[in-house]
Amino acid sequence: MEIRPFRKSDVEFVLEAKKEIVQSYFPGEEVDTAFFRKRLQNHMKTLIAEVNGSTVGCISYGIVNSVRGKAGKLETLFVKREFRSKGIGQKLLEHAENRLKQAGVKKIKSAVQILNENSLKIHEKNGYKKKSIMFEKDI
Ligand SMILES: CC(C)(COP(=O)(O)OP(=O)(O)OC[C@H]1O[C@@H](n2cnc3c(N)ncnc32)[C@H](O)[C@@H]1OP(=O)(O)O)[C@@H](O)C(=O)NCCC(=O)NCCS
Repeated sequence: MEIRPFRKSDVEFVLEAKKEIVQSYFPGEEVDTAFFRKRLQNHMKTLIAEVNGSTVGCISYGIVNSVRGKAGKLETLFVKREFRSKGIGQKLLEHAENRLKQAGVKKIKSAVQILNENSLKIHEKNGYKKKSIMFEKDI
């Protein structure tokens, strides 16, 4: 297994990963693909996991500003179903954290859907603490 930087040809893989994540927790909701593509190329950096030359996973990371100062941000941590529970998600997370550490941030934020048990577990295992709940209401 190899973790490598994102190439332009990875856009479709990461977009499909994002769609799968969003649609599993917000069934029936569309992903704004134009918005996501732009963000992928401008604000966020992405790492790709490859096994024998095939793309099997990804993670995006970036630095965000807020009133509490600069912080790292994680997004779209994803491993293809048949490659899960083999440590690939863990490696992606560690690589992204190291990049953020090297960039000098002291805190990393990551939004997780409340029902996403695998994601809650991998975050907790890596020392992330639950800090806020995002409420949402259809109007
Ligand atoms: C979350 C995800 C990326 C984990 O990737 P993975 O390669 O399977 O994870 P790893 O094998 O590296 O396991 C790391 C940790 O994740 C958690 N985990 C992984 N698979 C799990 C499972 N089936 N059940 C419970 N926890 C699990 C555990 O804490 C595990 O550590 P452990 O093996 O010491 O218990 C993967 O399940 C996935 O792609 N899910 C769908 C996309 C998604 O929901 N992404 C998160 C968006 S915030």
